[in-house]
Amino acid sequence: MSTTFSSRPGFILSSAGSAIGLGCIWKFPYMATQHGGGAFFLVYIGLALTLGLALMSTEMALGRATGQGICGAFRSLGNRRWQAWAYLPVATAFIIMGFYCVVGGWSLAYVAGSLRGEVVGKDLTLLTSRFNALIANPGMAVMWMAGFLALTAAVVLGGIQRGIELMSRWLMPLLFVLMLVLIVRGVTLPGAWEGVQFLLRPDFSGFSFGTLLAVLGLAFFSLSLGMGAMVTYGAYLKPESDLPASAGWVVALTLLVCLLGGLLVVPPAFALGIGTQAGPGLTFISMPAIFASMAGGEIFAVLFFVLLLVAALTSSVSLLEVCVRFGIDELGFGRRKAVLIASAGMFALGVPAALSFSLMSDMTLSGRHAFDFMDHITSNIMLPVGGIATAVFCAWFCWHDLAAQLRHQDRSRSRLLLGARIVVGIVAPLAISVILLQGA
Ligand code: TRP
Repeated sequence: MSTTFSSRPGFILSSAGSAIGLGCIWKFPYMATQHGGGAFFLVYIGLALTLGLALMSTEMALGRATGQGICGAFRSLGNRRWQAWAYLPVATAFIIMGFYCVVGGWSLAYVAGSLRGEVVGKDLTLLTSRFNALIANPGMAVMWMAGFLALTAAVVLGGIQRGIELMSRWLMPLLFVLMLVLIVRGVTLPGAWEGVQFLLRPDFSGFSFGTLLAVLGLAFFSLSLGMGAMVTYGAYLKPESDLPASAGWVVALTLLVCLLGGLLVVPPAFALGIGTQAGPGLTFISMPAIFASMAGGEIFAVLFFVLLLVAALTSSVSLLEVCVRFGIDELGFGRRKAVLIASAGMFALGVPAALSFSLMSDMTLSGRHAFDFMDHITSNIMLPVGGIATAVFCAWFCWHDLAAQLRHQDRSRSRLLLGARIVVGIVAPLAISVILLQGA
């Protein structure tokens, strides 16, 4: 593989760009509020630092050992039977994108709304009805979803390096700074402090296996694990970089942004009096309350939604790229054709997801409309199963090749490696299986 990331920070920022997205700023806050706040967050940190870190390191090692994406990696280090696992990540990426581009579309719509000065407001009823009007309008929902998908396709078509990498390098740090500023404003709103306490005080009274499954699913989703996204990035990491340390950086940055996302979105929700009931609309309903109480709030609103859109794009690009690579490597398509076909498929899935809040709200699969169903099967089933498969494969079929990647310079790290192998080969598959079976 001749292309590598130019520097270790470049690699870390790009991987973090894939991980940090709607998971941290949209999904984490509303899930944490639905599942009891502090306890959910604490378990999330625990899972991310153990299973998450170990799996992220091995996924990256798998990529660097083979110089290929997940299909190629399974093929070159495994056998024909393992190769069949290559279909799972592609299917997963497709389905995630189906609902991801709906939420990306909401962000795009809010960018447009904030430019027209129509986002900022203090009144909860008004903010909620604005959000509901957007998602319940079939034409709008599909149009914004398609717009987000088209943006993603344009970036993937135009080349990731110059487009997305440059963009994330400049705009992700800006997002970070902006979040800090907005948090300071948000937590000082009257009534907001209760939200901070809710988010940080662990209360395990309502905690169940179902909650554990939800945390696990979110950990995979937010760290982009379980479908080989990090394998692809690892393939571009220079041989001399310290791999576990890089993985540690990516996990730490993602955790940090999730914490910031929670502190950003949850306190104003308490200030508005929505408390814990808003669900997926939470970010879009509670943020305008911060803007309404700031000087220059209209400008901050534009800035925030543009940056949210960028965070979503740097992630959706990695999802589309997984499918595009599959088309190029396994089906022999050219890049253009692969992008077109993959996006068309994603659009086909995106339509029912976008219409889940209007025309198709009654069409359900096991009690869930299309949007929820796609979210549920990917986070709660496909990503964990993909994680188990990758873990078993790495620890028991090609550990020797991976261990060479996890060492750094002449340090043998034998204890660290043994620990990692136990976590990846035994603890992770067992723990994920138990959570899956009990939580389902
Ligand atoms: N991690 C991204 C987010 O939090 C979503 C994402 C991008 C993803 N690539 C992935 C999730 C691969 C699972 C697997 O928004």
